[in-house]
Amino acid sequence: MIVAIANQKGGVGKTTTAINLAAALALRGQRTLLVDLDPQANSTMSFLDLQQVSRSVYDAIVEGAVPLRDVILPSPVANLSVAPARIALAKLEAKLVGELDAHFRLKDRLEPLLTEFPHVVIDCPPTLGLLTVNALVAATHLLIPIQSSYFALEGTDDLLETIEKVRARPNPALQILGVVITMHDKRTALARDIRGQIQKVFGGKVFKTVITKSVRLEESPAYRESIFTFAPESTGATEYYRLCEEVMDRA
Ligand SMILES: Nc1ncnc2c1ncn2[C@@H]1O[C@H](COP(=O)(O)OP(=O)(O)OP(=O)(O)O)[C@@H](O)[C@H]1O
Ligand SMILES: [Mg+2]
Repeated sequence: MIVAIANQKGGVGKTTTAINLAAALALRGQRTLLVDLDPQANSTMSFLDLQQVSRSVYDAIVEGAVPLRDVILPSPVANLSVAPARIALAKLEAKLVGELDAHFRLKDRLEPLLTEFPHVVIDCPPTLGLLTVNALVAATHLLIPIQSSYFALEGTDDLLETIEKVRARPNPALQILGVVITMHDKRTALARDIRGQIQKVFGGKVFKTVITKSVRLEESPAYRESIFTFAPESTGATEYYRLCEEVMDRA
């Protein structure tokens, strides 16, 4: 399973979902690769010291001289490796302009690693540009985090349009694995209303597991830990573990 975590809306919980889903898969004994495709490098920093990252996915995708395998680093989590991002990724778009295989770079670089890593989780940047398209072309599945907020569904039309374009040509096999509602506040009527709206649009695609708002989930990256070691008894840990089970069932 290669699952892209995408939504061009910023700050909706893509990275939090990517790191904790990847950690949950690893915890279940599955060899997992977390690919950070966001120049902000938040996924990378959630597990690694950026000072110790000399090469990134950029070097494997753009220059082509370095095999992706050579930029991958082990994480502190057993069974979890990271293909790190660096700010250089922001230059990718400009570098690949005019290249015929611009959309296929990540797919091609990942292919030789798939026996080693049966599960790949790709954290996307908050855009629908070339980086996200590379993720959607490489992915078997797409997971969309949607923040439980008043403007939750704003922009989903553009996302769905991009998915359809990718399905029309480069990757007809791409499946929407599901939509996960994040940063939910069970106490408010507004949040319940928003959940209803999201369900109206995405129906059965919405995961039963909802990720509630939790300070623990916000804190754990600063300690370079997933929620499962940082706060194993927290609701965030329980919810992301359940989400992982749903993901495994659907995939
Ligand atoms: N369930 C949650 N409860 C509380 N805070 C959360 C939760 N999920 C994410 N956050 C926090 O909200 C902020 C945005 O989350 P995150 O970085 O995961 O979103 P993102 O979609 O990856 O953002 P970007 O679009 O910038 O990449 C972060 O500070 C994160 O710690
Ligand atoms: Mg992010």
